[in-house]
Amino acid sequence: MSLSATDKSNVKKLWAKVEKQIDEIGAESLGRMLVAYPQTKTYFATWKGELNVQNDQVRKHGAKILNAVSKAVKEIDNLTTALSKLSELHATKLQVDPGNFKLLAHNLILVLAMYFPADFTPAVHLSVDKFLAAVALALSENYR
Ligand code: HEM
Repeated sequence: MSLSATDKSNVKKLWAKVEKQIDEIGAESLGRMLVAYPQTKTYFATWKGELNVQNDQVRKHGAKILNAVSKAVKEIDNLTTALSKLSELHATKLQVDPGNFKLLAHNLILVLAMYFPADFTPAVHLSVDKFLAAVALALSENYR
């Protein structure tokens, strides 16, 4: 499923707003994934304390993830190449089951809907959903 010109423009427009609150949105998304899907905590076994939105390590890492998604937005025409190194890292070193990319995307979509209720129309929702599916696919490329 490829992204249309409208999808790309919808994602870029929303992202201009996301970038102003990137750390917060990243922390919320990762924190919610860890709470709502506790099986995802196993990848972060060395982190201390409750793994939720308040946790410092979760906050820092959530920001890191969203900054990587921001880079992907800038390279929306080239996702496979842009995310190739990260794909390899998650596949070989981190050994993250790629099904988890969908869980993070789901939580990110919820957070975007909460932060930008007026912007998050059904059409924008669809475009963001398609974009995050494309990101998940690109991140899964090096699992073969
Ligand atoms: C959109 C999806 C994702 C993106 C863009 C992303 C991005 C990143 C980035 C940028 C790093 C840091 C890489 C480095 O230090 O060089 C990282 C590390 C990591 N990611 Fe992901 N990630 C995603 C999804 C996930 C998911 C769903 C999980 C597990 C459920 C996961 C588990 C990890 C782990 C365990 C690390 C290493 C953490 C540490 O430094 O201790 N990632 N990821």
